[in-house]
Amino acid sequence: MADNIVWHNHKISRADRAANKDQRPCLLWFTGLSGSGKSTIANALDVALHNRGYHTFLLDGDNVRHGLCKDLGFSDEGRVENIRRIGEVSKLFADAGLIVLSAFISPFASDRRLVKKLFPAGEFIEVFMDTPLETCEDRDPKGLYQKARSGEIKHFTGIDSPYEAPVHPEVRLDTSRMSVDECVESLIGYLLERGLINHKD
Ligand code: ADX
Repeated sequence: MADNIVWHNHKISRADRAANKDQRPCLLWFTGLSGSGKSTIANALDVALHNRGYHTFLLDGDNVRHGLCKDLGFSDEGRVENIRRIGEVSKLFADAGLIVLSAFISPFASDRRLVKKLFPAGEFIEVFMDTPLETCEDRDPKGLYQKARSGEIKHFTGIDSPYEAPVHPEVRLDTSRMSVDECVESLIGYLLERGLINHKD
């Protein structure tokens, strides 16, 4: 960190911002292999929450890498910095009172742990997209697994770059066995159970 930087407390607090929105901020962190369904399920949950009147924001690997993280590649260092930035941005959006949905491969457990530490207890919800590699590779929506297998892309997660699966995720979803609606139901159920959203709607 640079020297001589002093934190400035704002007059409107995180709680004030959330209260105006009549909701509790939290971060749903979707982690899993490429093609495991992170973006699809995060988008479907985003729609479900938005339609219930909640204020949300969705951050997605492929999109964020077009802007904020366009200078980063897929080396271990690039991924670490990618997740560090996304963690901080997720925190800012949550401080603004929003329910944040972040969908990134985030292959390293230590990086996910650092993001978790930015949040008060119970407000970081790790959603592990536990879809088997075989299914992800069969889907190959962007043709990237094929390129990775042929060596055209190096350091592809699950092929020649590691993925450290969460051991105790708050929610585990396998889109090879569950429909999009079932996944959304399960997530909404979790949020209700934890009092992060309520039955007002
Ligand atoms: S992360 O590892 O740093 O968390 P992130 O979620 O931002 O990854 O980006 C993953 C997306 O980038 C994938 O969905 C895929 O479309 C694309 N991609 C391009 N190259 C790679 C690679 N070598 N490994 C994984 N994904 C890649």
